[in-house]
Amino acid sequence: MSEPVVVETVEAMRAWSRMAMKAGRSVGFVPTMGALHAGHTSLMERARKENDAVVVSIYVNPTQFGIGEDFAKYPRSLDADRKLCGEAGVECIFAPKNLYETGACSFIEVGGLQEHLCGISRPGHFRGVATVVAKLFNIVEADRAYFGMKDAQQLVIIQTMVRDLNMSVTIVPCEIVREPDGLAMSSRNRYLSVTERKLALVVPRALDCFRAAIKNGERDAMKIVGEMANILAERDEVEIDYCAIVDAHTLEDVTKIKGDVLAAVAVKIGKTRLIDNARFEGL
Ligand code: PAJ
Repeated sequence: MSEPVVVETVEAMRAWSRMAMKAGRSVGFVPTMGALHAGHTSLMERARKENDAVVVSIYVNPTQFGIGEDFAKYPRSLDADRKLCGEAGVECIFAPKNLYETGACSFIEVGGLQEHLCGISRPGHFRGVATVVAKLFNIVEADRAYFGMKDAQQLVIIQTMVRDLNMSVTIVPCEIVREPDGLAMSSRNRYLSVTERKLALVVPRALDCFRAAIKNGERDAMKIVGEMANILAERDEVEIDYCAIVDAHTLEDVTKIKGDVLAAVAVKIGKTRLIDNARFEGL
């Protein structure tokens, strides 16, 4: 597999994309913040199957981190990332050095969707995400862009932005990739100590409880949330940010399991914040 080209400026990325377009090649795009793992490579592999060329962006976006969050210590591993991208058949890595020119004052807000779940404890986060993703879409001009369902709120916000602003890219949602013991893969898992890594398993266990309850015919959302929260609360070291069952499209809390719902969980273990979710597509 040949090494991907690494493009570091907006102008060079535009030139690359124009060449691909001129040659009539379809482009699949996977936006990331690097520290790549099998969750990311599953998106790249899907993009490789569905397009002539794949572009991956690697950019730790400052505007989606709040004060006191982990922007400075977010893992950066470009050499290892480049290798993984090569193995997944990625042709171009966009690692921009000049994405935010000084004085940028335009931002994208996606209505009420950013007021729920992670938006409550991370004010401004989704404004930063939507804005950087819109910028990347404008530069890369891909046919399709691939997003993981692991970040369910991010996915619905991006889908809504693309619909509302008539962007021409097609958003492709991709399944959550998990470790063999059920923990969802995340760049932030690297922060966990051995003990914290074990504690983190309460999260997939809480989601298993949701799936089992649904399977047993339980439809009272509050009852299931209570059972999930009990599992998360088993260990004092696990701080619950939220544990909720919401409508998968509006992200509003539901009382009855009906239609498409998401069981969504965010916890803090030590200094590490983890999120995960399970989806049920009902009638
Ligand atoms: P990052 O956390 O690097 O994630 C990049 C993409 O990989 C996202 O679409 C995310 O949902 C997906 N992903 C992460 N872990 C996954 C897993 N275990 N299974 C499947 N997909 C997974 O999300 C971001 O970066 C940023 O907010 C970004 C969109 C790049 C904007 O800065």
